[in-house]
Amino acid sequence: MISKVMLDAINEQINKELYSSYLYLSMSSYFAGNNLPGFAGWLRVQVDEERAHGMKFYDFLVDRGGRVALKAIAVPHSEWKSSLEAFKEVQSHEAAVTASINALYELALKEKDYPSQVLLQWFITEQVEEEKNAAEIVQQLELIDAHGTAVLMLDHRLGKRGGE
Ligand SMILES: [Fe+2]
Ligand SMILES: [Fe+2]
Repeated sequence: MISKVMLDAINEQINKELYSSYLYLSMSSYFAGNNLPGFAGWLRVQVDEERAHGMKFYDFLVDRGGRVALKAIAVPHSEWKSSLEAFKEVQSHEAAVTASINALYELALKEKDYPSQVLLQWFITEQVEEEKNAAEIVQQLELIDAHGTAVLMLDHRLGKRGGE
């Protein structure tokens, strides 16, 4: 059986992952509304990934005999000043999620919860990828004029992302 403190912390993380999914869904609709279907599509894939992260924790709790406690999901922003501002929010949001995953790992060490440590190692690796992807898009957006053709080229490239 999983400890109460670990159970509560993972339930909080489920909410954070589902919020991530909700945030990226909102961003996807913002880009769709601004006729950038590549950005919108890239974020739609991200919506599913974040939901899958939430479900990974969900299944883990069920497997450990813990009770999943779903909480209200906060309302995300629906407007951004530019593509760059939106992806800067992705970047800062992912950094916050990484901090949260790291704190969970520290708790798992303190609790001597070995199964949680193994699960969280997967998430630690995943966050390296998430932060790298966000940083890359932010840096490329910073390089290009917000009204230049390069934005459309980036949109085209992002549109090629398939599901994982
Ligand atoms: Fe996530
Ligand atoms: Fe993420």
